[in-house]
Formats: sequence, C-alpha cells, structure tokens
Amino acid sequence: MSTPSLLILPGDGIGPEVMTEVRRIIDWFGKRRAIAFDVSEDLVGGAAWDAHGTPLSDATMARAQAADAVLLGAVGGPKYDDLDFSVKPERGLLRLRKEMDLYANLRPAVCFDALADFSSLKAEVVSGLDIMIVRELTSGVYFGEPRGIFTENNERVGLNTQRYSESEIARVARSAFELALRRSNKVCSMEKANVMESGVLWRQVVQEVHDAEYPDVELSHMYADAGAMQLTRWPRQFDVIVTDNLFGDLLSDLAAMLTGSLGMLPSASLGAPMANGRPKALYEPVHGSAPDIAGQGKANPIACILSFAMALRYSFDLGAEADRLEAAVQQVLADGLRTADLLGPAGGTPVSTRGMGDAVIAALDAGL
Ligand code: IPM
Ligand code: MG
Repeated sequence: MSTPSLLILPGDGIGPEVMTEVRRIIDWFGKRRAIAFDVSEDLVGGAAWDAHGTPLSDATMARAQAADAVLLGAVGGPKYDDLDFSVKPERGLLRLRKEMDLYANLRPAVCFDALADFSSLKAEVVSGLDIMIVRELTSGVYFGEPRGIFTENNERVGLNTQRYSESEIARVARSAFELALRRSNKVCSMEKANVMESGVLWRQVVQEVHDAEYPDVELSHMYADAGAMQLTRWPRQFDVIVTDNLFGDLLSDLAAMLTGSLGMLPSASLGAPMANGRPKALYEPVHGSAPDIAGQGKANPIACILSFAMALRYSFDLGAEADRLEAAVQQVLADGLRTADLLGPAGGTPVSTRGMGDAVIAALDAGL
C-alpha cells in the first residue's frame, strides 16, 4: 500500500505551536517505528483568510477530501471578530465538517490519574473517569435552514433552525452503539424531547436502531439539561453519550473540564468509509485557538498529540501505536511535568509547549 497521506491544518492562535510538537511526534514514529506518513500542510481559518480572503480555499478543501486523514489545530481569534459571519475563521472548520460529511464527532473525556486533583470536582468523583461523547456534527441547528437575521415588524429577528432527519439520527446512533460494543456496552442518548419535536424524533430513532440492531447494548435516554447535571454529579455513571450537534458542543466542554483541563482532550470526526476502507476523518483538539496565550510557548500540546493518537487508532488501524503514544503522555504527567494550564495547587514542574513535546518524545524513546 502507498504511504498514507496526512493533511495538517495548524490554523490560528496556539494551533501552529501545538502542531509543531505533533509534527515532531509524527517524525518520531517515522524514524523509530517505521510508520511513515506523506505529510503536507495548508491554511485554514484566519490564517487562510489573511492569505486568500477565505477561511478555507477550494484547493484546500479538495486536498482535505483527498487526504487519508486531516489533523487540525484551532481556528479563530479576536482579530477576526468583525468579519462577516460567512467568512469567519470558524466557517472554514464548519465547511470541512459539512463537505467531508463528518457526522460522528468522538470526544473522549478521560481523567488522567496524575491530574485527578486538578479537576474542579473532587478527585473521588472524577478519578478513573473514561467517557466518550459522540456528538452529531453535520446537522442540527448549526446547519439548519432557514437561518439569518431579518427585520420583522420594525425590529430585528435572529433565526436558526434545529432540523434532524431520521437517517442523520440513525447513522450517529450506530456509531455510538458500535463504540459501546468495544467499551462498557452502555449508551445514554441526550436530547430535549420534553420541548422539541426534533428531540422526540431523536429519542424514537435511537431506540429503534437499538431495538433492531443493538438489543444487547444497555440504552438509556436523558434530557440534556438533566444530563449536564448528572455529568457533574456522578460522571462515572456514563460510558458512551450520544447527542446532537449543539448539546454535544456544550456537554463536551463540560465533560472536558471534569478531567482538569481542556488542554488535554482530543477529538475525532468521522464520516463514511472511503474507497480504501478508511473513514473520512478529521482530528482536532477540543480546545480553541486561545489567542490570549498564543505565541508564548505556554500552550499545552497534549490534546493535539492525543488527536494524532486517535488518528493512529481510527484511521490507520494502529491501535498498539496509539496505546504507545497515550502511555507516553500518561508517563510525562505522572512524572509531574505541567504546562501552565495544568499548574494547580498540586504543583509540578513547569514546562513550555516545546518542553512538553520533548518530554513526550523522551518517554516514547524510553518505552521503545
Ligand atoms: C467545537 C467548537 C466549534 C463548534 C466552533 C469553533 C465552530 O466550539 O469544536 O466544539 O462550535 O463546533
Ligand atoms: Mg465547542
């Protein structure tokens, strides 16, 4: 088979600096594990706007469609606040998700033992936490039409549409059930069936897919507000959570914070299989572009490094190599190395973005 291609889109803010560390990790796998990728780099978000006057050029879109996997840093920043909505940096990311049809967004929330004290919740509530949020990513209120800001009766009206078709719900439900089969066999579906028709349909379709195809997976349903409450009260009750685009956006940030830092969490956005059998895929850290700390060597590269680990696992069927990389990260944290976002009352050895990259590489070397 030819060398798999990896398109890297560092984006804005801390995106480029965390991605620099990931590129060193990719090089490590090439040199030490003979796992080679055909890596190329392109622009997205504000960086693409500055260069081409669009947050994602058609040429970059085409390269993303052709790549075996895409790895993205982050998009956005205050510099672009006044841009028209249609060309904001975020639109570049949303276009990638939509046109690649990346409907299943996997957002693991794992509490690393070494960081249990760092969570805003008590260590006994979060230690050992390992949940997977499956967020629908290509539909719902993010993309529903009609949308816009209109004038009606002499005042402005903002409008967005929450819309889900049966097939859109069914396919993301299947992704969640498939994951549950490889984990603790439990799915909790979250919506607002008490107030939204789209939520009523969501609940029905998830139940139907379950009954017809995955009867042995334990399925429960929860209103999303109650789900948010339960996530903070007793997060370990969950294994896989499946939810829509907007609730998934909120609940995944909440779940991320349970683990101590948004700087730790990766994500995978997966679509249908391509001709080569690999799913269409984009990997990105859950954190944003953090413009306030960009360019200062303060950013935590771990979420982006773990996003590459997810690529190894879900795109390239290299689960053992993904385990190797995740173990290296665990080791570095256990050794007490901390970027600024992880320096809490428990202390630790402060390191820069580069220092964290160095430490992960040293841990990989040690584990050879
Ligand atoms: C996320 C982000 C994005 C979203 C933004 C940057 C468009 O918050 O990936 O969670 O809202 O989906
Ligand atoms: Mg978000």
